[in-house]
Amino acid sequence: MINYKTLGLVNTREMFAKAVKGGYAIPAFNFNNMEQLQAIIKASVDTKSPVILQVSKGARDYANQTLLRYMAEGAVAYAKELGCEKPEIVLHLDHGDSFETCKSCIDMGFSSVMIDGSHLPYEENVALTKKVVEYAHQFDVTVEGELGVLAGVEDEVSAEESHYTKPEEVVDFVTKTGCDSLAISIGTSHGAYKFTPEQCTLDPETGRLLPPPLAFDVLAAIEKELPGFPIVLHGSSSVPQDDVDTINKYGGKMVAAVGIPEEQLRKAAKSAVCKINIDSDSRLAMTAAVRKTLAEKPGEFDPRKYLGPARDSMQKLYEHKIINVLGSNDKLEK
Ligand code: G3H
Ligand code: 13P
Ligand code: ZN
Repeated sequence: MINYKTLGLVNTREMFAKAVKGGYAIPAFNFNNMEQLQAIIKASVDTKSPVILQVSKGARDYANQTLLRYMAEGAVAYAKELGCEKPEIVLHLDHGDSFETCKSCIDMGFSSVMIDGSHLPYEENVALTKKVVEYAHQFDVTVEGELGVLAGVEDEVSAEESHYTKPEEVVDFVTKTGCDSLAISIGTSHGAYKFTPEQCTLDPETGRLLPPPLAFDVLAAIEKELPGFPIVLHGSSSVPQDDVDTINKYGGKMVAAVGIPEEQLRKAAKSAVCKINIDSDSRLAMTAAVRKTLAEKPGEFDPRKYLGPARDSMQKLYEHKIINVLGSNDKLEK
């Protein structure tokens, strides 16, 4: 058993309380490899932002849970080496699918876990989430639960259509489970194809697809039921069209990729939404940079020569999200 505190990590409790009060959101970035992690840490240090490092099942299968945990420990040391005296870094399990997975992450030093019982019947979701909370809280590890189902297909996370969170269920769920934050469904979804073209309208000036707005009425009703309680938004990539265009220009084929407009996320970040999950945008930034570099320098075979620009591009993206979308910059204690 390793407690995250000995690794220099923090849980989400204080971070979320400050974010809700301050009207901003903490970035939760998924990581699977060293370049992503370097970019996340550099961006959070340069902007003085707290940050949540997320590990999905896909990441654990790809990179190994133990190795990712040691990388997060290294990230704390790296942030300090970059000049950040008091980094606020959370190591979070994304979409935990069972009590055993959550326990295994808690036991090896994760400071926060999500138990995703959103696909289960309500009472089973309550029972599973409560069980994880009871175990996690013994070690001061914070727990994110989920109510409502997000649409989208992405590796381990899939559902045909979204079902918005029912505001009338949230108080009962939070009271019975004791969870520390709640992921909700208000129209976001995972991946780079968040809406079908039929769900969108066409912008006559740009020819781009304009997605339908998020259900801010549902968010407002949830906030009314749970004043000040930390709310989480999954599936919050914006799918920057510049990156999609670059990918397509250099041999890719991404048709009708569309995300959540940034102005909607800015609005959400000012509410009780205090954690915003972003993964796909980082994948797009990385892929666009790698494709461009390899197309422009076909003789290049040193991975550092194309992963380096990809890392720079991801860092720029993370800094943009922190400063211009979530507003979590300049929030670290001196
Ligand atoms: O919520 C889904 C995340 O984007 C993780 O996806 O399982 O493909 O790593 P992944
Ligand atoms: P995106 O696919 O929109 O980046 O969402 C990521 C996510 O919700 C991770 O849990
Ligand atoms: Zn998610």
